[in-house]
Amino acid sequence: MRGPLVSIDTAALRQNVQVLRAAVAPAKVMTVVKANAYGHGAVACALAFEDAGVDWLGVVDLDEATALRAGGVKLPILAWLHAPGETFERAVQHDITPGISDLAQLEACVAAGVPRVHLCLDTGLSRNGAVESEWPALFDRAAELRDRITVEGVMSHLSNTSPQEDGHQMASFVTAAGMLGERGITPPLQHLAASAASVSYGASRITMVRIGLASYGLSPFADRSPGDLGLRSALTLSAPVIGIKEVAAGEGTSYGYTWRAERDTRLALLPLGYADGIERHAGNRAFALIGGELRPVVGRIAMNSMTVDIGPEPTDAGAAVHLGDEAILFGDATVGHPTAFDWAESTGTINYEVVARLSPRLPRSYR
Ligand SMILES: Cc1ncc(COP(=O)(O)O)c(C=O)c1O
Repeated sequence: MRGPLVSIDTAALRQNVQVLRAAVAPAKVMTVVKANAYGHGAVACALAFEDAGVDWLGVVDLDEATALRAGGVKLPILAWLHAPGETFERAVQHDITPGISDLAQLEACVAAGVPRVHLCLDTGLSRNGAVESEWPALFDRAAELRDRITVEGVMSHLSNTSPQEDGHQMASFVTAAGMLGERGITPPLQHLAASAASVSYGASRITMVRIGLASYGLSPFADRSPGDLGLRSALTLSAPVIGIKEVAAGEGTSYGYTWRAERDTRLALLPLGYADGIERHAGNRAFALIGGELRPVVGRIAMNSMTVDIGPEPTDAGAAVHLGDEAILFGDATVGHPTAFDWAESTGTINYEVVARLSPRLPRSYR
C-alpha cells in the first residue's frame, strides 16, 4: 500500500500556461515557482513550464533559484528578495537575474559583476521595492552605471485591494517608467501583474506578467472557478485508508474530543496531518472523497493522521469503504474532487495557502 501522495498532472500545467499565454499575449509570461512551486514541486514544475514555452521563471531568493539551476532548468530566472549583505556572487555563477530593491543591492550587483537586474519598485504594497522618494537616486545611479550593468526590467506588485487602488499603483508604475526613460533607461521587461490582474486588467500586462497561482490551475478569485478561467487544477492530494474503526454513539476521536459520534459509525484513518501541511483546523470542517462519497473529516487533525467519518456498515450511501482505498482530499473539480478552494473556504484561508503549505516531505509524482 502506498502512502500519501501529491500527484501533479503536468499536462494540466502545460495547458494552463497555454491558456494564460494566449490570454495575455503579446505580453511575455513569467511563471512563479517560489515556495516549492506553491507546493507542487519546484524543479519538476519549472521544467514543465519551460517545456510549455514560458519566457521566465520567478522565485523569491537565490536559494530557490540555484536549486532550479541544479535541477537543470535553463530558462531565465528572476529572484527578488535578498537578505542584507547579499553579495550576489551566486547570481553570477548560476546566471540568475536579481530583482533589486535599493542602492546597496545595486552596488553589490555591480561589485559582483552581475550583468543585468530588474528594479523592484514599491508602488504601494509597502513590502520590498524602492519607495517613490528613493526612485530619483536609484535611477540616477542606475543611469551612471549603465556601462557596467543593464536594467533589463522594472517590476512592482499590486495589492489587489480594489480596481481604484490597483489603478493608483499602475499609474505610479507608469510614472516610474517615465522617470527611467528621462534618464535614458527603457527596460524591455516591465511587469507588475500577477494572476488576478493578468486576467482582469489588460492594461496591467505591459510587457510581461508574473503568474503563480493560475499556472497551477487555481483561481485567484473567490467568485470565479478555475473552469471559468479555462484552467484545470494540476494537484491532487490523496492518502490511503490505513485503518477502519467502529465507534459507538457518544465516543470521541482525536485530541480533546472535539467531535463525538452522534450514532454508531466507523472512522477511516488517513496518514496525513499538520506535519504534512494539512491545516489543523480542517477537523470538523473539511471533507474528503472516499469510495465516491464526500465524507467529513472529524476530530482534530493530529501531527501525522486524521479521521474521517465513513458512516456505519454498510455505509449510508451504500458505498463500501475498504482498507487501502484512496481518499482524495483535494484535486480537480472537473473530475468530481473536492478542491483546494473548498478546503480554504472551510478552514478560513485561501487556496494559495492550502497548496503552498504542503510539506516538501510528501512524495510528489508527475504524470
Ligand atoms: C512579487 C510576486 N509576483 C508574482 C506573484 C504571483 O502571484 P499569483 O500567485 O497571485 O499569480 C507573487 C506571489 O505572491 C509575488 O510575490
